[in-house]
Amino acid sequence: MHFNLLTLFPEMFPASLGQSLSGKALSKNTWSYETINIRDFGLGTHKSVDDTPFGGGAGMVMRPDIIENALLSIPKQKQGRKIYMSPRGTPLSQELVKELSTEESLTILCGRYEGVDQRVLDAHEFEEISIGDYVLSGGEPAALIVMDACIRLLQGVMGNSATPDEESFSNGLLEYPHYTKPAIWNNLDVPKVLTSGHHANIKAWQQEQSEEITKHRRPDLWKIYKK
Ligand code: ADE
Repeated sequence: MHFNLLTLFPEMFPASLGQSLSGKALSKNTWSYETINIRDFGLGTHKSVDDTPFGGGAGMVMRPDIIENALLSIPKQKQGRKIYMSPRGTPLSQELVKELSTEESLTILCGRYEGVDQRVLDAHEFEEISIGDYVLSGGEPAALIVMDACIRLLQGVMGNSATPDEESFSNGLLEYPHYTKPAIWNNLDVPKVLTSGHHANIKAWQQEQSEEITKHRRPDLWKIYKK
């Protein structure tokens, strides 16, 4: 899987994705990335990429001509699905991550300032994706999150530790709690059923825990699950 990253801060990549399992997968070429510095397409001696918004208001908006030139520097056949990271976007979900992780390449536009001129997003059919209901200072950390979630689903990245069917969200529920050694820690036991060796009872307990946790923490998910 290949990621093209349109950014003003190319040095923000690969960040944490260069470490641990995703880092190993990067050296094995399971995934790759390329940064395109939007600044290289800026205008004038200051390599300006933004301007004041029509209609007034605070902040600066990234110019459509600059973004387009940066985008067009990526060969069309290497662009793949185009994504703009934005708090106004479709919320990222595990379902969407699964879908994106099957793509050969993604082009992710990371905005700064107040945002990007809408016309370039429309003209090039960028899909807007949000990582949650809060505002970051730029799209780069959001892009890293999309990448991380996709990369761990790629063949061979997680090895034996991947149990996708039991993960949070994969069945519409949050995951049950986990325990390991020591069996007694600070006078605290682990739930008896887990040391019983009774597989069916363990499964039933885990299911019940998943349901309880989801009901309390995520009534929105619970409502959908119960349908
Ligand atoms: N850029 C700024 N905030 C963001 C968010 N919540 N999701 C995606 N991109 C963003």
